[in-house]
Amino acid sequence: MAMSVTEALYARISTRAFLSTPLSRDLLHEILDAARWSPSGGNLQGWKVIAVTGDARQAVIDAGLAALAANDPGNDGGHPIYPANLWEPYRSRRFQVGEDMYEKMGIPRDDKPARFAHVARNFQFFDAPVGLFFVIDKGMGVGQWAHLGMFMQSVALAATERGVASCFQEAWGQVRAPLAAHFGLPDNEMVYCGMALGYADPDALVNSLRSRREEVDAFTEFRGF
Ligand SMILES: Cc1cc2nc3c(=O)[nH]c(=O)nc-3n(C[C@H](O)[C@H](O)[C@H](O)COP(=O)(O)O)c2cc1C
Repeated sequence: MAMSVTEALYARISTRAFLSTPLSRDLLHEILDAARWSPSGGNLQGWKVIAVTGDARQAVIDAGLAALAANDPGNDGGHPIYPANLWEPYRSRRFQVGEDMYEKMGIPRDDKPARFAHVARNFQFFDAPVGLFFVIDKGMGVGQWAHLGMFMQSVALAATERGVASCFQEAWGQVRAPLAAHFGLPDNEMVYCGMALGYADPDALVNSLRSRREEVDAFTEFRGF
């Protein structure tokens, strides 16, 4: 477990094909025990986690796929994954990472069924043995959502350090209402995002994707240096 923070930042990627190797409760606990030291404004720690494996994992997969098939646009709980009519440069970046990923997988643009099948694999955690759901109080504002995001990145980095691969999955946000019912969440809580967690399949082409990033100078104004 000798990995610097910077090494973990470089090494973490969205893994979209997992081995069936189980992830132990002890190791998951250790990862969450590290991540809980994430900062949050006012130290609100406005995060809750539901972790599923085994039967509980299969049950939420079944519920998620059924909800997806029902295709009810209201299921996102009023929080669409992206703003409507995404604009530049964001639109192109989103397009690019999709194209790069399907190129790695050898799926051409016109093969819509294959692309849709891959997207649907989100709802099987890409075969990962563990799924996490990050739950937030509906009363929280954008600040607290950002803090939850920091916590999620901490989970991913602590996992990376331990050789555990992950994929953030806001795809589950499309079925927030059915998920809340499935988990029996109180009225004031909702699932923000899911995460697949386990061991990467080293032979899967999709895992060879290294997504692009803008250079520092493209997004930073250095003033007074
Ligand atoms: C909050 C969040 C939600 C995401 N949701 C999904 C998802 O539902 N399915 C998926 O395949 N990737 C998802 N991603 C992964 C992004 O596509 C990925 O982080 C981005 O393309 C950069 O690639 P990298 O994670 O490999 O560095 C999500 C990422 C974040 C941060």
